[in-house]
Amino acid sequence: MIGKKMEKALNGHLNKELYSAYLYMAMSAYSDSIGLKGFANWFMVQYHEEMLHAMKIYEYILRQGGRVNLAAVKEPPSDFESPLDLFEKTLAHEKFITKSIHDLVDLAIAEKDHATQIFLQWYVTEQIEEEENDNDIIAQLKLVGAGPEGNNGLFLVDKDLGARVTTVLTDFSKGIEAGMKAAGQA
Ligand code: FEO
Repeated sequence: MIGKKMEKALNGHLNKELYSAYLYMAMSAYSDSIGLKGFANWFMVQYHEEMLHAMKIYEYILRQGGRVNLAAVKEPPSDFESPLDLFEKTLAHEKFITKSIHDLVDLAIAEKDHATQIFLQWYVTEQIEEEENDNDIIAQLKLVGAGPEGNNGLFLVDKDLGARVTTVLTDFSKGIEAGMKAAGQA
């Protein structure tokens, strides 16, 4: 059982994960529209990952006897300045998500909610990977000069990002953990 304060905070973070999915969907659409199919693929994979992050919280709240409250998801931007801008904005957003998760952990500690502390550890670890991936791609894009000033080597990065794959879970009816285990993601 989770307390009302924790339930409210988890619902707030659920909305942020849904926004993350929406943001990366917008970035995928933008990438596609400027001919960067590999970028479009990378961001669509990221969209699916964010939906999974959201669904894990959804499921956790319900398993703990809480109520899920689905608030409106805000509109993401649809225009970006360059391929580098996409990933700089992605990193900035992920730092915001990391902070939100750390705030949840702080609350779980203050509330002596041990179950939620353990549940959140997965997210703490996941955020290290997310920020690392973004930093790596930003470094590559800077190396090839993919800012507004030039595009040298951009096609190589695009090819690389096009190779990213994921197993998409579309059936959440048996629960996220079961689905992730079946897909080898747990
Ligand atoms: Fe779900 Fe990218 O944090």
